[in-house]
Amino acid sequence: MNLIRSELLELKGYSSDHYDSVADKLDANEVAIDLPLSLKQKLGIELTERLLANRYPDGMYDNLKEQISQYAGVSRDCISVGNGSDELIRSVLIASCLGRGGILVALPTFSMYGILAQALAIPVYSLGRREVDFTIDLAQAQKTIEQENINVVFVVHPNSPTGNLLTAPEIAWLSSLPSDILVVIDEAYYEFAGHSLVDELPRHPNWLILRTFSKAFRLAAFRLGYAIASPELIAVLEKIRLPYNLPTITTIAGELALKYRSDILSIIPQIQQEREKLWQILDRLPPLKVWRSDANFIYFRSPNDRLLQQQLAEQGTLIRLTGGGLRVTIGTPEQNRRTIERISSSLAKLT
Ligand SMILES: Cc1ncc(COP(=O)(O)O)c(C=O)c1O
Repeated sequence: MNLIRSELLELKGYSSDHYDSVADKLDANEVAIDLPLSLKQKLGIELTERLLANRYPDGMYDNLKEQISQYAGVSRDCISVGNGSDELIRSVLIASCLGRGGILVALPTFSMYGILAQALAIPVYSLGRREVDFTIDLAQAQKTIEQENINVVFVVHPNSPTGNLLTAPEIAWLSSLPSDILVVIDEAYYEFAGHSLVDELPRHPNWLILRTFSKAFRLAAFRLGYAIASPELIAVLEKIRLPYNLPTITTIAGELALKYRSDILSIIPQIQQEREKLWQILDRLPPLKVWRSDANFIYFRSPNDRLLQQQLAEQGTLIRLTGGGLRVTIGTPEQNRRTIERISSSLAKLT
């Protein structure tokens, strides 16, 4: 088919399963509990009062950016907003790599960096990670930087699917990169880890942080992400953002979520406790290899990951097969109890 670039015919896009009836959907790192009804009602009222359906949204999103900047502890000109952080990843690629050079990623990691780069015909250079703790092989990383034409390094803090935060040597290596290489630090799971590199940004004008409202803020349905970086970098992202990229309802939901953030984020200690409990139990199931996590999911490997995933799905628990292992989102205490029961019974059949 000459109509389309041939490499796109081969490209494997992002896939996600959608099952309305599956009780325990633990495959996309969402928070398992919906927004409180009282907040949904407030959203309905705000929408009725503020939405002008016949008008485009406020295309600069000044109010939303102002509130995000206060939450992130930076000034407003350090914030750009995206239709999910996925959109911002694509903007970063357009701004920094298109027609120039490639990206560096350490696998396993979030797949969209590679997928969006390939869609834009941007070369993807990938490194491995040490299996013991999924740290990046920095000697190999440095060699790749020296040998290849790389414009952007993507890292996740904490990484998905493996759950590990960047270590001090990794941060030191990122700090040592030349100022013409953009370092993107994706903090999609920041609120679960409680650790951010935002304070480092003034020292590193070539660093950019991505965050999302899809995880801890429980607004995945609205598609809202943001970038934090120097005003110079942000001005470029703003130039290439599509006009009116956020629907008005998304803007209102984001502003409301920030206003009521202490209610929304109050679930995090429970998720952290559940993560610890789930880890302790999974770690004691002999055929599993389980890693510690600072996010709202746990990564593990079993003697037959594909079969285990299928068996769990048949019992009503969806988890994600990714990066040569399995990633399970921390659910409600009840869901986590079922996850353990179902994994144990599937393992009994597998071994
Ligand atoms: C590391 C990472 N970055 C970005 C995203 C995408 O976030 P958004 O929903 O804001 O597009 C995800 C979603 O799973 C993720 O895991």
